[in-house]
Amino acid sequence: MNDAVSRAAEALKSARRVVALTGAGVSKESGVPTYRDALAGLWANHSFEDLASPEGFRRDPAMVWDWYAARRSQLREVRPNAGHYALARIATHFPDFVTITQNVDDLHERGGSRDIIHLHGHLMETKCFFDCRGSSTLVDEAVFAGSEGSPPPCPHCGRWLRPNVVWFGEMLPPEAFRRAQQAAATCEVMLVIGTSGLVYPAAGLPMTAELGGAVIIEINPEDTDISRIAAIRLRGASGEILPQLAEALGV
Ligand code: OAD
Repeated sequence: MNDAVSRAAEALKSARRVVALTGAGVSKESGVPTYRDALAGLWANHSFEDLASPEGFRRDPAMVWDWYAARRSQLREVRPNAGHYALARIATHFPDFVTITQNVDDLHERGGSRDIIHLHGHLMETKCFFDCRGSSTLVDEAVFAGSEGSPPPCPHCGRWLRPNVVWFGEMLPPEAFRRAQQAAATCEVMLVIGTSGLVYPAAGLPMTAELGGAVIIEINPEDTDISRIAAIRLRGASGEILPQLAEALGV
């Protein structure tokens, strides 16, 4: 086991309140492209902001809906990787462990993690673009499966449906972000896994944790904006490092 993993395990062993903040890198080894990977296929010549914003949706609702439909189909084909399973095992070692994720996939849930806070929503959930019955009202996929054209009509008001994810320029779900801020401010260790740390306010959570006295442990093959406040930097793929960390903790 490498020295940095041993140091990370030592920092964790004396902790009771631990938070994991995850990004797209933790799903990369499941075959889900990260956001900084180039957009591929039909969407290669579009910007991410074009596809993940209310303005982009209004400009071309069919293209945006089809991009998310393609991502939902892909997500049905992929599985959690060793990193997801190891993180769920690591969580069992602590009385208070929260996984805060920027990811909109359900791989942490399928990998066995329990207390998960989704800051950017859920790819597999759908709601009315106009929130005709309130933004928490979801529409079951069976209602619109196979409907012609895209995006399908809201069953309540007949206007567009949209994925229940946070788009550029939109607020994070207030209760989720409040919980995440509280967990970050009170934790003793924060594992920052597979995120470039470029998109706020999620990217501000490690600073909140560090200001609260937490030890920041970063797991990423590359340096990021968060590296400068990481006391321990585990350079490598989360699917390889998290199982080593779980083994060092004996879980
Ligand atoms: P990014 O694509 O910005 O960053 C992915 C990070 O994962 C990078 O730092 C990579 O170095 C790292 N990485 C790649 N492979 C990895 C592996 N096998 N193990 C661990 N790390 C690996 O994705 P996010 O940081 O999650 O927001 O992006 C944050 C937000 O930007 C997303 O939630 C999305 C996007 O705009 C919204 O949609 C609102």
